Amino acid sequence: MAFARLSTFVALVLGATQIVNAATTKRVTCATGQVTANAACCALFPAVDFIQENLFDGGECGEEAHSALRLSFHDAIGFSIHGGKGGGADGSILAFNSTELEFHANGGIDDIVARQFPVFQGLNLTAGDFVHLAAAVGTANCPGAPQLSFFFGRPPPLAPAPDLTVPEPTDSVTKILERFADAGFSPAEAVALLSSHTIAAADVVDPTIPGTPFDSTVGTFDTQVFLEVLLKGTLFPGNGSQPGEVKSPLAGEMRLQSDFAISQDPRTACLWQLMVDDQKLMMAEFKAAMAKLQVLGQNTRKLIDCSDVVPVPQPFTGHIKFPASFSKKDLQIAVSSFNVSFSLISLQN
Ligand code: HEM
Ligand SMILES: *[C@@H]1O[C@H](CO)[C@@H](O)[C@H](O)[C@H]1NC(C)=O
Ligand SMILES: *[C@@H]1O[C@H](CO)[C@@H](O)[C@H](O)[C@H]1NC(C)=O
Ligand SMILES: *[C@@H]1O[C@H](CO)[C@@H](O)[C@H](O)[C@H]1NC(C)=O
Ligand SMILES: *[C@@H]1O[C@H](CO)[C@@H](O)[C@H](O)[C@H]1NC(C)=O
Repeated sequence: MAFARLSTFVALVLGATQIVNAATTKRVTCATGQVTANAACCALFPAVDFIQENLFDGGECGEEAHSALRLSFHDAIGFSIHGGKGGGADGSILAFNSTELEFHANGGIDDIVARQFPVFQGLNLTAGDFVHLAAAVGTANCPGAPQLSFFFGRPPPLAPAPDLTVPEPTDSVTKILERFADAGFSPAEAVALLSSHTIAAADVVDPTIPGTPFDSTVGTFDTQVFLEVLLKGTLFPGNGSQPGEVKSPLAGEMRLQSDFAISQDPRTACLWQLMVDDQKLMMAEFKAAMAKLQVLGQNTRKLIDCSDVVPVPQPFTGHIKFPASFSKKDLQIAVSSFNVSFSLISLQN
């Protein structure tokens, strides 16, 4: 009896909460004409336009878009679920750039910080909101990307993140997975986040060949990087072997030691292989892991879901392909139990 009353009470309270939620999530049309779930998000549409114009050359999936995504990772990962590290996705990498840019793992990040700083100053956003909105918008410029979510309302960062929170390509898989776990991410989420390397290039791994991409379709958010990291490595694209680099299969392509090791490790190889040519899986896993990354260390109850200000990316349809002259015989797959199950079998040359 008491139980029945309690559940009636709970039902009433839940009902009331749903009404409140319905009221606050009522769609509104902003003065600028766009429609959003929350009036507080209206201020962001002009900010998105400003970012597209002044940071991304009018909406391109170019180097700034790629680096904005990398910056969101280097900002957010400065966090531990056990405390004692940084504030997470708080924009500290921008606000405390003179400290964080000194960290070895932030090599090459100085360019995007310098590009973002004046754009940040031109907007009324906190550093955290700016860094993570720019990452969502820049990623949306890349065909095939999921529409990342954006939560609005991060307070200004309090302090720089400490050093040694960002994984290095020279780190072992164990060290990398331990760092991800310390920040709250599973091995599967680490693999999902590495989908980002499909729109990535290296400037400082081998400084003689800046801008060397990790796959052959650097302007498309496809699953090509997951395939190409599995091809037998035969060459170094620049000045011989550099720290954090292993042999790549193609001239003009860089392979990170960490990407390769993660593709071959029993803890991560299965998902790595499953990602190959499964655009839907990759999009869903990357979107979910990014949603977590971009609010790391934040009190999400105080943030407003403004995901509908993020542009909808062009889709990637069809299948990825082996690069010219490559085929199944060039695959290098350490975890043999998955040979039969994964999607490569149906891939075309
Ligand atoms: C195991 C963890 C990771 C390691 C060791 C790693 C390492 C690297 C390295 C060495 C570079 C090249 C830097 C340069 O020479 O300029 C790079 C580029 C990049 N990384 Fe990662 N990364 C990791 C995870 C991630 C994650 C989780 C993201 C995003 C969610 C990300 C996004 C990117 C992007 C977009 C670039 C290209 C930047 C550009 O083209 O300007 N990385 N990464
Ligand atoms: C770093 O931040 C300071 C403000 O703290 C700013 O004046 C400076 O331009 C920033 N540096 C870069 C490279 O963006
Ligand atoms: C700046 O942003 C804050 C927080 O979103 C808002 O309260 C304030 O009205 C804005 N100021 C201007 C000048 O737009
Ligand atoms: C090439 O690499 C070697 C060994 O890592 C280094 O000593 C040399 O300075 C590099 N050359 C150039 C042009 O960077
Ligand atoms: C899986 O692939 C590897 C490398 O291609 C090969 O050496 C191994 O025999 C294969 N295993 C099975 C069970 O097919």
